[in-house]
Amino acid sequence: MAEFIHRPTNNRGFYVRMRLLHRSRPPPEKSLFFRYYKWVLWISLSLYFFSSYFISHKPIPLSKSYVTNSKSVHPSRALFESINGTLQESKPDRGSFKDLKVFVYELPSKYNVDWLANERCSNHLFAAEVAIHRALLNSGVRTFDPYEADFFFVPVYVSCNFSTVNGFPAIGHARSLLYSAIQHISSQYLFWNRSQGFDHVFVASHDYGACFHAMEDRAIAVGIPEFMKKSIMLQTFGVEYKHPCQDVEHVVIPPYIPPASLRKTLGKFPVTGRRDIWVFFRGKMEVNPKNISGLYYSRKVRTDIWRRYNGDRRFYLQRHRFPGYQSEIVRSVFCLCPLGWAPWSPRLVESVALGCVPVIIADGLRLPFPSAIRWPEISLRVAEKDVKKLGRILEHVAATNLSSIQRNLWEPAVRRALMFNEAVEKGDATWHVMESLYAKLDRSYRRSKVSSQ
Ligand SMILES: *[C@@H]1O[C@H](CO)[C@@H](O)[C@H](O)[C@H]1NC(C)=O
Ligand SMILES: *[C@@H]1O[C@H](CO)[C@@H](O)[C@H](O)[C@H]1NC(C)=O
Ligand SMILES: *[C@@H]1O[C@H](CO)[C@@H](O)[C@H](O)[C@H]1NC(C)=O
Ligand SMILES: *[C@@H]1O[C@H](CO)[C@@H](O)[C@H](O)[C@H]1NC(C)=O
Ligand SMILES: *[C@@H]1O[C@H](CO)[C@@H](O)[C@H](O)[C@H]1NC(C)=O
Repeated sequence: MAEFIHRPTNNRGFYVRMRLLHRSRPPPEKSLFFRYYKWVLWISLSLYFFSSYFISHKPIPLSKSYVTNSKSVHPSRALFESINGTLQESKPDRGSFKDLKVFVYELPSKYNVDWLANERCSNHLFAAEVAIHRALLNSGVRTFDPYEADFFFVPVYVSCNFSTVNGFPAIGHARSLLYSAIQHISSQYLFWNRSQGFDHVFVASHDYGACFHAMEDRAIAVGIPEFMKKSIMLQTFGVEYKHPCQDVEHVVIPPYIPPASLRKTLGKFPVTGRRDIWVFFRGKMEVNPKNISGLYYSRKVRTDIWRRYNGDRRFYLQRHRFPGYQSEIVRSVFCLCPLGWAPWSPRLVESVALGCVPVIIADGLRLPFPSAIRWPEISLRVAEKDVKKLGRILEHVAATNLSSIQRNLWEPAVRRALMFNEAVEKGDATWHVMESLYAKLDRSYRRSKVSSQ
C-alpha cells in the first residue's frame, strides 16, 4: 500500500476505474498494446464478477458484505462498491455525490509517505489522515484534472512524528510542515491562490484538531493557523459549544481503528454473543490526576469513576494497558467513554464496532456523521457531574430500554459508518466524508464559475 501511494500515476487500476466511471474522459496517456489487452481482459473479468454478483446477490444487505468482506477488497468488488456508491441519484438525501470531483495533490514524499516508514503511522489512533488519503486515491470521486475538481485534498501526515521518550505523536512540527506544503502547492499550481484555500481540504485528526496542539489551553492560545482558516478541516475534535479549535469550516470524523483488528475480534466473538461484563473501562485513571499547567486530566471524571466504582462487582475497571482489550469490549454490555485530555475517545468507535453500548461522559461532545448515525438511539450520555450516579443510571437503562438500544447499535450500517476501509465502501467513514463534502459544494470554485456564467 505504501508503495502504491509512492507511484500513484503508475497505478493503472485508477485509470481503468476512472474510465469506467467517467467514460467521456480521454485516457491520461497512450498505452502499449499488450497492456491495453491485459486491461481489457481485466475489465471483462471484473464485469463478469460484477454482473454475476448482481444476479446471484440482488438483495444483499449491507450486513452481509461487512462480515464477508473481511479480507482485503478484491478489485472487482471495489469496482462494484464504487459504482454502487455513485449511482444513488434516486435517493438524494443519502449520498448522491455522483458528480463530486476531488483532486488529490501529489506532494513530495516528505509530506506524507516518508512517515510510513514507521508502521504505526497508518495504524494508530490519528491515522485517519493516512486512511482518507489512501481511500480517496482509489475512489471514484478522484479526478486527475484539477480544472474540473470541486475540492482539493492536501495529504500531509502530521501525526507520525512519534516521540522517542513516550511514543506519543509530537505535533510541534505540524504547523511548519503544513505551511511548507501550502507554499509548495501555491507555487506549483494556481488553485490555492485563486480561492485562498477555500476549496482545499485537510485532515486534522489529533486531540484539538485544527489547532494542532495536544493540550486544550495551549491549543486555544495558539489557535488555528492563519493560513488554514479559510479551508475545510476533517477533524476528530468537535464540541457543541463555540470553541476556537473548530472555528473553521469542518467535518467531524471518527478516530481511526484498524478495521482488520475489529474483524479479527468479531471473528472470535460475535456482536450478539454472550456479554458477561456489565460495565467496562480500561485506561488511564490516576488516583491523583496530574496537574499539568493547572489542569486535571479528564476533568477528574476518571478519578471519580475509579474512586466510586473500583471494587463494585458490576464494574470491571482496569488501569493498565492490555493488547487484548477488544475482547473485553465485545464481552461487555456498557463501555464507559469518559473524556481524556480531549473530549473524544477511540473507545467510542471500538465500543460501537464491537456492539458494547457506549456511555459517553464528556459534556458537549459532538459526534461524527450525525445525519447518518442516530447517536441518541445507540448510546447513552451521562453528564460529567452525574458520574457518581453511574450505577443507578445504568441499572435503570438495563431495566427499561437496553435491548432496544442494543438492537439499534447492532445494525451493521452503524458499525460500518465509523470504519475507514482501504478502498471506499458505500456507507463507510470515507464515504460519509465525501457526502459531507458534497453538502459543501457551494465552496466549489469550479461550480460557482459555472453557475455565474
Ligand atoms: C448498493 O446500493 C443499493 C441501493 O442503496 C443497496 O440497497 C445495496 O445494499 C448496495 N449494495 C452494496 C453491496 O453496497
Ligand atoms: C519531530 O519532533 C521532534 C520533537 O518535537 C522535533 O525536534 C523534530 O524536528 C520533528 N521532526 C520533523 C521531521 O519535523
Ligand atoms: C500564489 O501567491 C503567492 C504569494 O502571493 C506567490 O508567491 C505565488 O507565485 C502564487 N502562485 C502562482 C501559481 O501564481
Ligand atoms: C496546578 O498547578 C498550577 C500551576 O502549577 C497551580 O497554580 C494550581 O494551584 C494547581 N492546581 C491544583 C488543583 O493543585
Ligand atoms: C433509554 O433510556 C434512557 C434513560 O432512561 C434515555 O436517556 C435514553 O434516551 C433512552 N434511549 C432510547 C434509545 O430509548
